[in-house]
Amino acid sequence: MKKVLFAALAATLLCGCGGDKSNTIKMITEATFPPYEFMRGHEIVGIDVEICRAIAAKLGKDFKCETVDFDSVIPAVVSGKADLAAAGITVTEDRKKNVDFSIPYVKTGIVIIYKKSDPCTTGEACKGKRVGVQAGTTSETYVLEQLGQEPERSRSPAESVAALKAGRVDVVIADIDPAKNCVKGTDDLAISDFITSEEYAIAIRKGQPELLAVVNETIAEAKADGRLAKWVEQYTAEADKLKD
Ligand code: ARG
Repeated sequence: MKKVLFAALAATLLCGCGGDKSNTIKMITEATFPPYEFMRGHEIVGIDVEICRAIAAKLGKDFKCETVDFDSVIPAVVSGKADLAAAGITVTEDRKKNVDFSIPYVKTGIVIIYKKSDPCTTGEACKGKRVGVQAGTTSETYVLEQLGQEPERSRSPAESVAALKAGRVDVVIADIDPAKNCVKGTDDLAISDFITSEEYAIAIRKGQPELLAVVNETIAEAKADGRLAKWVEQYTAEADKLKD
């Protein structure tokens, strides 16, 4: 037993295991954001999960994924609790101060979800209304900075939409894909055109050029060989089905 322990200790010291050298790549996300990440029973699945799994495979490492509230996703890579933050994260100048971003993998934006009985299709028209958003997102920033008011914060786009249905908010602002997913199957809700133009990328702790290079290569390859398009199609269909 002692021998085994000693061998394990020696191996740890020799390879400097722990920190960057660990054999597992840990992804951190917030899994209420279909089709990028959502729950299939107890499993976290989606486009972002596939991208990160491919990064781990390219590094020859095991892969693990965990979900936390969205406003804890970026702090988890800053503190080193996770290696990759992938959660439909929009690249912003503010976030760039704290993390490094990969090349983008989606062009997208936020939209307004409104009741057809009370149409609200521009940012301007939302002013003075109770606007639901997921906490920590660019939708929250939009309400604070562009509308100059406090939003009604929730923990997920679906929770905001439930508040809209219950009349606790007047409109919801969210990223287009989860917005479409929330609205699907309802007769009384609709979504506006984009009110912003955003890009998703993977965030990692600053100062890791080797990891960043592998992340970027993986994204570029997945775009070029059609895997990314396949994941988008597959998980959009699966998330839509889960809704039904
Ligand atoms: N794109 C928006 C942002 O970066 C919302 C992302 C929310 N993602 C999630 N997995 N809940 O702020």
